[in-house]
Amino acid sequence: MPIKSLIRTVPHYPKQGVMFRDITTLLKDPVGLRVTVNELVHRYTPVKIDRVAGIEARGFIIGAALAYQLGVGFVPIRKQGKLPAETVGHDYDLEYGTDRIEMHVDSVAAGEQVLLVDDLIATGGTAEAACNLIESMGGGIVECCFVIDLPDLGGRRRLENRGQKVFALCEFEGD
Ligand code: PRP
Ligand code: MG
Repeated sequence: MPIKSLIRTVPHYPKQGVMFRDITTLLKDPVGLRVTVNELVHRYTPVKIDRVAGIEARGFIIGAALAYQLGVGFVPIRKQGKLPAETVGHDYDLEYGTDRIEMHVDSVAAGEQVLLVDDLIATGGTAEAACNLIESMGGGIVECCFVIDLPDLGGRRRLENRGQKVFALCEFEGD
C-alpha cells in the first residue's frame, strides 16, 4: 500500500513557494494509518529501544502509536513553554522561521536508548535540536525516523553528518 499516495500536497502553505506535505489524509485512512505504524513496528521490534521520543505536533501521533506497539514509553518533545515541570531546551532554525523545543529533564535517563520520531524531515533543524536535547540528558539515539523525507532540503545529510542513523518511509523531491 503506497503511503506516499495518501499524503496530500498543499501548495503555498504556510507561505508562498512552500509545498506543504500534509499527512492528515494518510492519518484519516484506516489502512494508511495501520500500514504506516506497522512498517515502523516491523523495523524497530528487533531493536533495543527504551523510549520513543516524538516531536510536537505530528510526531506525537505516529510516535505514541509506535511506542504503544513496541511496549515502551513515550516522551514528548514540545514547543517552548508547553511542558509543566523542569525542562531543557534548544533553539533551532526551521524551514520557515525559528523555534525552540523542550523536554522534561527527567524524560530520558543516562544510558537509555531513544528512538526519535517526527512526521517529516526538511532542513533537519528540528530533529538535530531534538538529538541535542536527548544527548544532553545522556540518552543515546537509536535512529531518527520520519514518515516523509524532503531530501532536497538536506536534513538527512545533516543528521548523518552528526552520526545519526536516519530512516524515512517515503521521499518527496524535485519541487
Ligand atoms: C514541521 C515538521 C517537522 C519540522 C521539519 O513542523 O512537522 O517537525 O517542521 O522541519 P525541519 O527539518 O526543517 O526542522 P513544524 O515546526 O511546522 O510544527 P508542527 O509539527 O507543530 O506543525
Ligand atoms: Mg513538526
